[in-house]
Order: sequence, then structure tokens, then C-alpha cells
Amino acid sequence: MSEVADHGRLMDDVYRYQRLFYDISRKYYLLGRDHLIANMQVQPGDRVLEVACGTGRNLAAIRKRHPRALLFGLDISDQMLISARRKLDGAARLAQADACSFDPEALFGEAQFDHIVFSYSLSMIPDWQGALDEAMRHLAPGGTLHVVDFGDQGRLPDWFKRGLRGWLARFHVTPRDTLGAALQEMSEGTAALSACSLYRGYAVYGRLTRPSGR
Ligand SMILES: C[S@@+](CC[C@H](N)C(=O)[O-])C[C@H]1O[C@@H](n2cnc3c(N)ncnc32)[C@H](O)[C@@H]1O
Repeated sequence: MSEVADHGRLMDDVYRYQRLFYDISRKYYLLGRDHLIANMQVQPGDRVLEVACGTGRNLAAIRKRHPRALLFGLDISDQMLISARRKLDGAARLAQADACSFDPEALFGEAQFDHIVFSYSLSMIPDWQGALDEAMRHLAPGGTLHVVDFGDQGRLPDWFKRGLRGWLARFHVTPRDTLGAALQEMSEGTAALSACSLYRGYAVYGRLTRPSGR
């Protein structure tokens, strides 16, 4: 079996039962998701893709704020997509795919998106830089990439950081300590970046906008 298929099977195993209480439990530690959504400047008719959309929690919240946006979600886990389909009830087009290599025309009939969201997914995607590169390939001119994930916990006590990371590892989650630097590098010369750390480094948030006409 390929590495991608293995990873998809692992994600299905992780979420087969967890998805049933995912939204309520993650509310308390996937911090910054609402900050990301509140900072999205979505116009009516904009195409919004969440890569690794999980249960569809974020897409449902985006829909509430921007009812005229066109919503799309992909995830490698069929299990998570069962929950997302139930929650979104046809309000978003959803598909099973790998974040690191996907064909949006084939999946959704769209070549590019005005907004692409990564929310607490890069910490679960082994080739997370590959996933960011793939997203940039499908971002429309003038489009924005929105990212939130675990930060380096740099301004939190050491015991908290160690405990958090040990616990996250049990769920196959690895905070990407170089995520902020990777976004910075991606923005150099080609895009405008607005990034910050949230909650004393618990999370990192970034918004990268590609110039129009490129
Ligand atoms: C912690 S959940 C985050 C879900 C959602 N974005 C949120 O903020 O609630 C991580 C998600 O990433 C998905 N995922 C992991 N690796 C992936 C990959 N290579 N391609 C697509 N989805 C992936 C998992 O199946 C899971 O749904």
C-alpha cells in the first residue's frame, strides 16, 4: 500500500470514533480557529476551500458569516467526511483527497480558490510543506491562504509545553516549530504576509495574500 493510502487509513483509525465527540472536545484546545474565520475577508461568490476540513466545523462557521460564498472541503479521511457531509448538508462540496497532491478541477470543477484554509491540519500532515506548496498552486491571483496551528509554546511554561506535546503525539499530531518561518519564506517577494502568535505561542496564525494579476 502507498504511503498516502497508509496515512489515510491511519486518519480513519484515529477519527472513526473520535469524530463523534470531536467538535465538543476540540473546542477547548484547537484555539484560534474563530480568530482565523473572523479575519477572513470573503466577498459574495468567493470560492473558499478548506484543506483537511475534518468534521466541517470551520466550513459551517464560514457559511454562517458568508452565506453567499462557495464552499469546498477536502480531507484524506472518509470517516471525517461522513461527519462533514452530515453537518454541511449539501452547503459545501466535499471530497476525499490528499492535501499534498489534488486536482481541484476533477474534484470540484474549480481550478483555483479565492481563499484556502489550513486549520490544525499541517500538524497532522507528514509533508506539511508539500501541502502548503500544493495550496499555493491552486490559489487565485489576489487570493489568500489562511493558516492556524499549534505554535512553539515559546512563552508558556516548559512543563506545559512538554505535557502538551506528549499528549498530542498520542494523536499523531506534531507542532511544526518552523511554520512561521515557512510562511515568511513563502511570502518573500511574492505575497503579503500577516502573521502572529496567539495565546503566548500556544498557536500560530498567518494570512498570506497573493498579489492580483500574478
Ligand atoms: C485536527 S483535524 C482538523 C480538522 C479541521 N480543519 C478543524 O480545524 O477542526 C486534522 C484533519 O487533517 C486531516 N488530514 C491529515 N492528513 C491529511 C492529508 N494528507 N490530506 C488531507 N487531510 C489530511 C485529518 O483526516 C483530519 O480531518
